[in-house]
Amino acid sequence: MPTIVFASPKGGAGKSTSAVLLGTELAASGAAVTIIDADPNRPVARWARLPGLPANLRVLDDVTEKTIIRVIDDEASRVAFVIVDLEGTASRMIPYAMSRADLVIIPTRASTLDAVEAVAAVREVKQQEEAFRLKIPATILFTCTSAAIRTRTLQSIEKDLILNQVPVMSVRLNERDAFRAIFSFGGTLRTLDKTSAPNIPAAIVNAEAFAREVVTILRTARAGVAA
Ligand SMILES: Nc1ncnc2c1ncn2[C@@H]1O[C@H](COP(=O)(O)OP(=O)(O)OP(=O)(O)O)[C@@H](O)[C@H]1O
Ligand SMILES: [Mg+2]
Repeated sequence: MPTIVFASPKGGAGKSTSAVLLGTELAASGAAVTIIDADPNRPVARWARLPGLPANLRVLDDVTEKTIIRVIDDEASRVAFVIVDLEGTASRMIPYAMSRADLVIIPTRASTLDAVEAVAAVREVKQQEEAFRLKIPATILFTCTSAAIRTRTLQSIEKDLILNQVPVMSVRLNERDAFRAIFSFGGTLRTLDKTSAPNIPAAIVNAEAFAREVVTILRTARAGVAA
């Protein structure tokens, strides 16, 4: 079953947040999900130890560069979705995880400096594709965007990406307190206490749309391979 890898050379781009949002949304739809926390700082494993982890979502954090491929393969044979959260800095686990990816998501904030690094990351995935002779779809995901406005900077970055044929997800993960709150209180957006963050329903709508688009991209990529 599909493996989705979150990678970006830029620290703090939103990999772990987006990985947990995707995992919890897919789990909320009834699918069995495993998140592999491949970051030595173990941010996802820390979240998983808080109360409220969904019963159909498992977090594994005991992976090394020697074991990551086997762990991904084992989990992919068992569950509906495997999600890998990588660390921000260069690590040998990155190419190994990518060699098993059905989709690589590269989160970035909507700043030109960050977007330049995200585009470089997409190019690196292309190099991995050639090295492994594999098809590895990769897409940029904007994170921490404003729910209220599509800033001029974001508009200009998106225009550039489209011109250069760099894939970008249409759903952006807005900056939402609720997305931070799950890491403080545990559980999912749906189990958060209403007093722990403002406008949780809007956060759920955003995260749901994100998960739906990921599933659509995976389906389209699979249909392309089958054709
Ligand atoms: N959509 C969002 N809304 C609100 N806060 C966010 C969002 N995305 C990320 N953040 C916050 O930004 C910071 C960095 O996010 P996160 O840890 O997910 O990034 P990362 O790419 O995994 O970082 P690292 O490279 O250190 O692993 C965190 O404080 C997180 O709470
Ligand atoms: Mg992280």
